[in-house]
Amino acid sequence: MSFTRRQIFVGLAGLAMVGAGGAGAARYWLGRSQAGKGHDYQLIAAPLDVELVSDRTTPAWAFGGSVPGMELRARQGDWLRVRFINHLPVPTTLHWHGIRLPLEMDGVPYVSQLPVLPGEYFDYRFRVPDAGSFWYHPHVASAEQLGRGLVGPLIVEEREPTGFAHERTLSLKTWHVDEQGGFLPFSVAREAARVGTAGRLSTVNGVPQAVIEAPAGQVVRVRLLNVDNTVTYRLNLRGADDSRIYALDGNPIQPRPLGKEYWLGPGMRMCLAVRMPAAGEEVALRDGSVRLGTLRAVAGEGMAGDWPPGLPANPVAEPNLGNAEKLTFNVEWVGSTSVGGDNGQPPSLWQINGKAWDINDKTCADRPIARLARGKSYIFELKNMTQYQHPIHLHGMTFKVIASSRHTLEPYFTDTYLLGKHERARVALVADNPGVWMFHCHVVDHMETGLMAAIEVV
Ligand code: C2O
Ligand code: CU
Ligand code: CU
Repeated sequence: MSFTRRQIFVGLAGLAMVGAGGAGAARYWLGRSQAGKGHDYQLIAAPLDVELVSDRTTPAWAFGGSVPGMELRARQGDWLRVRFINHLPVPTTLHWHGIRLPLEMDGVPYVSQLPVLPGEYFDYRFRVPDAGSFWYHPHVASAEQLGRGLVGPLIVEEREPTGFAHERTLSLKTWHVDEQGGFLPFSVAREAARVGTAGRLSTVNGVPQAVIEAPAGQVVRVRLLNVDNTVTYRLNLRGADDSRIYALDGNPIQPRPLGKEYWLGPGMRMCLAVRMPAAGEEVALRDGSVRLGTLRAVAGEGMAGDWPPGLPANPVAEPNLGNAEKLTFNVEWVGSTSVGGDNGQPPSLWQINGKAWDINDKTCADRPIARLARGKSYIFELKNMTQYQHPIHLHGMTFKVIASSRHTLEPYFTDTYLLGKHERARVALVADNPGVWMFHCHVVDHMETGLMAAIEVV
């Protein structure tokens, strides 16, 4: 595949105009103009020193002057236009996780576009067909780039107002930092061959033990985004036992109780309705029994809110299970940590259907592991032959989870499915978006050590 370098070098004048990155207020929502017209942003990626550990500095990389990156918002069906400016010392791209968009906007290097070099910009422009909680991140040197903080929420609002009067976005990330705030390795071969390399300091919206205020007695839409490289959070809430799940990974479900806990793997999102307690009381957001952060009820306005009705479905094509073609994808461990890893080359530890993705080979996407016919329905049988779980993610299309060997489930649409140890699951989709789409585990160091493939829709 070949590209012309459409991006234009941003000269010094350009930099001065937009404020030269860093901690500056490099955030502009140029505003929601008229309905249907679109949403325009300028988004700068630049180094930013942050204080994650008190009185210590962490040399993070940030989108729009904050970690996680600035929250982008758009309205369902509208255009989102982002002028992305790279002030990092390294090449990068932006990928829009969960958004069904044209391949040229998908941010995959050498598949969608050339990497955006330091000093360059790239204009991302696409419509957002689905309402929900999504996110954006680079697709280049992902362990380091996401690890240093290049992750941000993208919220697509429903066309019509929902029954929610209040909402909060909570991005979960566990940082690879030591007690001095310095970065630890983002990927260690020994860990990449197992559950993935986990960070040590958990944060909500970039703050350890964050406290988020919300109005007492009101029902609040809480958007939880797992933007971490590695960790599957076993989410539960203490102090709001009647909380309900309204959407998973950007797609509405029939509202149901959160129950004991929900396992939110890397890349996954969940939208909850939480009824806040009386003023002064708290709801603990927990990973298993560990508190990640706190929702604190503050004296609020108005009467106690009611549970809103379910959210409207997104316009995702319903797969025809009757005449769908079945394809099997085996996720395997091939781990030999002695190859690569220590000499700078990532080791090859994982594969799908006998093929490991080589993160340094720009031509891997020329050899897709499956070719789908445009408009046809498919059932993917996902077989995890390993003793580790893998959040399996597909670009470009939304799929429907229809069966699992581990639990009975109510079918639902998603872009990322947490495939448990030795689990077999079936997901179905209509191959309605032409292109070469990445299909990978979202544990970032699994993806960078083989657990990625391309699926082509022609
Ligand atoms: Cu979050 Cu390849 O994606
Ligand atoms: Cu994605
Ligand atoms: Cu994995």
